[in-house]
Amino acid sequence: MDIILLGPPGAGKGTQAQRLQAKRGMIQLSTGDMLREAVAKGTPVGLKAKAVMAAGELVSDAIVSALIGERLDTAAAHGAIFDGFPRTHHQAEALEVLLGERGRKLDHVIELVVDEDELVKRIIGRFTCAACGAPYHDQFHMPKVEGTCDACGGHEFKRRPDDNEQTVRTRMAEYRAKTAPILPYYESKGLVRRVDGMQSVEQVATAIDAILDS
Ligand code: AP5
Repeated sequence: MDIILLGPPGAGKGTQAQRLQAKRGMIQLSTGDMLREAVAKGTPVGLKAKAVMAAGELVSDAIVSALIGERLDTAAAHGAIFDGFPRTHHQAEALEVLLGERGRKLDHVIELVVDEDELVKRIIGRFTCAACGAPYHDQFHMPKVEGTCDACGGHEFKRRPDDNEQTVRTRMAEYRAKTAPILPYYESKGLVRRVDGMQSVEQVATAIDAILDS
């Protein structure tokens, strides 16, 4: 099964993709994570992407489509969760070609429907364990023991450089202008399923499971 999780920054795409990966063995393909890895390693892609991401704008279609193409076969057995991709019409078309070349097709496009002002709070408060990536939040989900990761016991945490209010507003505007307009393309194919992303993480997960099991 190949699915897209679609929604603005902070909608919970990464949170739900990680749950699906753990529960169903599907593979999370997050272009944001791939780009952050490239930036951290200082690869040619990372050097091109760094300033664009820091400004909250979109990296070029050619770069992100190539990144997905390189990783798609790793998700052949149990299916892929596309998290943060596609974000433009060109990327949606590129994905269709990449899947078609492998005899695969999308099963669902799950839109997480959310309130943007709440999302700004969600994003600005989030941080992750530097060792294992477990997600936390200043207001909603602190580690049980202060300064210690619940999952791995690590003591170092990190925050994304693009998680400040100004950049988040630009990321939201990019979503409205370039990504939300791809929904009608998928609606015309009968693929879009909507989930209320303002519910708790567990309620959102239950709603997504119901779609995948339907
Ligand atoms: P990317 O990494 O994809 O970021 P994003 O889309 O802005 O999404 P986020 O990761 O911020 O949010 P999310 O929806 O995954 O939410 P999360 O689960 O973390 O992209 C970053 C940048 O890379 C882009 O700006 C662009 O420059 C570039 N890029 C990436 N892909 C690209 C592409 N295809 N084309 C061009 N450029 C690209 O949740 C957020 C917080 O809320 C967490 O703290 C979480 O614990 C909490 N939370 C989650 N669900 C709930 C809930 N139900 N209730 C309460 N809290 C919740």
